Amino acid sequence: MDEREDLARNLKQLIELDRALGIDFVFKPAATAGLVPAVLDPAVTVKPVPAVKAAVTPAPPPRAPSPEPLSPIADGPDSLEKIAAEIATCRACGLCETRRSTVPGEGNPQPELLFVGEGPGADEDATGRPFVGAAGQLLTKMIIAMGLKREDVYIANIIKCRPPGNRTPEPAEVTACMGYLRRQIALLKPKIICSLGNTPLRALMNDDSLGITRMRGQKLQFAGIIMIPTFHPSYLLRDEEAKKPCWEDLKLVLKELGRELPKRG
Ligand code: URA
Repeated sequence: MDEREDLARNLKQLIELDRALGIDFVFKPAATAGLVPAVLDPAVTVKPVPAVKAAVTPAPPPRAPSPEPLSPIADGPDSLEKIAAEIATCRACGLCETRRSTVPGEGNPQPELLFVGEGPGADEDATGRPFVGAAGQLLTKMIIAMGLKREDVYIANIIKCRPPGNRTPEPAEVTACMGYLRRQIALLKPKIICSLGNTPLRALMNDDSLGITRMRGQKLQFAGIIMIPTFHPSYLLRDEEAKKPCWEDLKLVLKELGRELPKRG
């Protein structure tokens, strides 16, 4: 395949991705050479550009090879494995100094449902897997109660490294890490995102004034995807009363997925 065909194929893939996410298609201004769309670039804020314009943008003419480093797209399409490999060597914030493992996320790579938590705790830091401690066991039970299996869904966090002492991540740590989750979501294309607790609600809505008690069970949107926030399982472990409203939220998730409530028995 010559360079022009290759560029046209990349452009088509990016436009399809952009449409699927409901995000307008914008190239990273300084890097048309790399064909990096803003939605895949952690350093660039997405700006609205009419999708129809992007759809008719002709493939750029062939150019001489650039001496600049290859972007992920020029290097081949993005992938969950590539993102996990980048996370494994990430030094974008101070959490890299104290982590034992990075915890990129796991699950079905083509899920209908994506759960997003806050960040790894001690058990996750020890194993490199999300939600495997006490809160994780409760999340697994919640998933089963929904008539699903853990392997049916994808489970990720806002930050991929454990904050010391399980403190809430700093805003700068969230900002440094968000690009990875954005890229994961671009690949996963879930029908629904169910965010767990305050941190993912605030990070995904980009609004630190929001609180989960007021916002839970509402149908929000992230990048054109329905997002339903509910309580974090570790909060449910401390406050049994919160389990009932949480179940209402999960029933709403099922309804939005077009799934029946599983029979009790
Ligand atoms: N809490 C989270 O938010 N994420 C995990 O992976 C584990 C506990």
